[in-house]
Order: sequence, then C-alpha cells, then structure tokens
Amino acid sequence: MSAQGATQTTVHTLARMKREGKRIVCLTCYDAGFAALEEAAGVDVMLVGDSLGMVVQGRETTLPVSVDDMIYHCAAVARARRKALLAVDMPFMSYNTPAEALANAGRLMKEGEAQMVKLEGGAEQVATVAHLVAHGVPVCSHLGLLPQSVHKLGGYRVQGREADAAARMIEEAKALEAAGAGLMVVECIPSALAGRLRAALSIPVIGIGAGADCDGQVLVLYDMLGMNGGHVPKFVKNFLAGRDSIQEAIAGYARAVREGEFPAAEHSFDA
Ligand code: KIV
Repeated sequence: MSAQGATQTTVHTLARMKREGKRIVCLTCYDAGFAALEEAAGVDVMLVGDSLGMVVQGRETTLPVSVDDMIYHCAAVARARRKALLAVDMPFMSYNTPAEALANAGRLMKEGEAQMVKLEGGAEQVATVAHLVAHGVPVCSHLGLLPQSVHKLGGYRVQGREADAAARMIEEAKALEAAGAGLMVVECIPSALAGRLRAALSIPVIGIGAGADCDGQVLVLYDMLGMNGGHVPKFVKNFLAGRDSIQEAIAGYARAVREGEFPAAEHSFDA
C-alpha cells in the first residue's frame, strides 16, 4: 500500500496482467492536472514521454529535450500519481554509456520520483539495461520506430516490415528481456510482428501503432485528445470526439484498451 492507501502497480502487477490476459492501459502524462485525471480513469502506467518536447515545448523532434526537462515534468506527475506505475523516458544522449545512463536514471528516480526508465534501442542497449537493472533501476525498452533516431531512420516510418529486420527485432527483444528489461514498448511495426514479439517474450509488450496483438497500448495524451494540429498518424484515435469532457475521453480510452476495442484494424499496419 502507498502512503495514500492505494495498492501500487509494479512490474510484477504488469507481468501478472500479461499472464492473465488482462490488457495494460498506458498513456503519456506531463503534469499533475492530467495525472489526476489519468489516475481517476485507472490508467495502469503513466509515461512521461520525451514526446513532451513536441507536444508541450513545440519542438520539431524529441532530440532537444534535456534530463532537467524530464525531471521537471516527472516530478509534477509524481505529485498527483497514486497507484499507476510512473515511467519516464531517458532523453536523447543521456544514456550513451552504462555509467552515464545510471547517473541520469538515478536523477530521474531521485529528483523526478520515476519508478521506471524507458530507453530506445536494441542490441546496442543490452549492456546498459543490464547495468541499470543490476543497480535497482526498472527498465522499459523501446523497439521499432525510435523517435530519437528520426534523422538516422530518415523519418517516422513503419519498422520491421522486411523478414530480416523482423527477425532481428525479435532477437534484440529477447536479449533485452534477458538483460532484465521489465517492459517493452514497440512503436509503428506490423501487427503480425507485434504478435510474434508478444509470444516470444514473457515481459509485457505495449504497442503504439503496433496493432491489437499486444499486452497493452500506449498513446500520446495530446494525440488521443485530438490536439495534434497537423498530421494525425494512422494509429491515433481521438477519444474526445463525441464526449463531453477530458475525463470521459481518458476513461473511454482506458475502457477501449481493456476491452480490446482499440486499436482496430484501421489503426494498424500490415507487413
Ligand atoms: O515519448 C513518448 O511519448 C513515447 C511514446 C510514444 C511511447 O515514447
């Protein structure tokens, strides 16, 4: 039990949910006001995503976001969090070596009160994941479309469509799990590949643009409230449309994920 009396969601809760076939509801969050709404809707994992660089700070990419930015927003979310697991992104260039990752993860947990850190990348991050976990830092890995590598990838494109890339992603996911990752986010990959990853891993697989065959889903909060301004990615659904309040929209998203109604085929990618 927490100081507030709520039973905490932990990596063990999420692993049990996977075993029991209960879908995990994850949503990004950047401040205390929205954290209170997400708590009330029963969101399982609040992710302070470095997407805040784009949706809050108005930048073109997530690359300029700093560790201090992440700490500021994570600490704000932490003040209203009660039960949900609080995960935070490690920003671009904050985890180039295992030692640098540990120092910055320590700050995110001590100053930002994060309970898990997320970092992008596959084989090249295995040693860092093992180092963090060995020092008591729960880790969420992130495979598929890696927004911090947008310039290397040449844009925000679906990943893992070719057979060799899909096979490589599965091997990398297994290596990250073996290194101690407790959660895996997969972004913009074909639905069938997400299903193969889900079957290959015992840790939960949380999809965004990865179809319905995942253990849970995540969306960027501003996207699911229809606050995307220009281009709306195929995998996004506006949950505020047809509802009277933001609270109802977040509750509608949580219900749709739990009941397997979101994402539908129209939000998913084929191989
Ligand atoms: O930064 C973010 O919001 C994320 C999600 C898109 C998974 O990493």
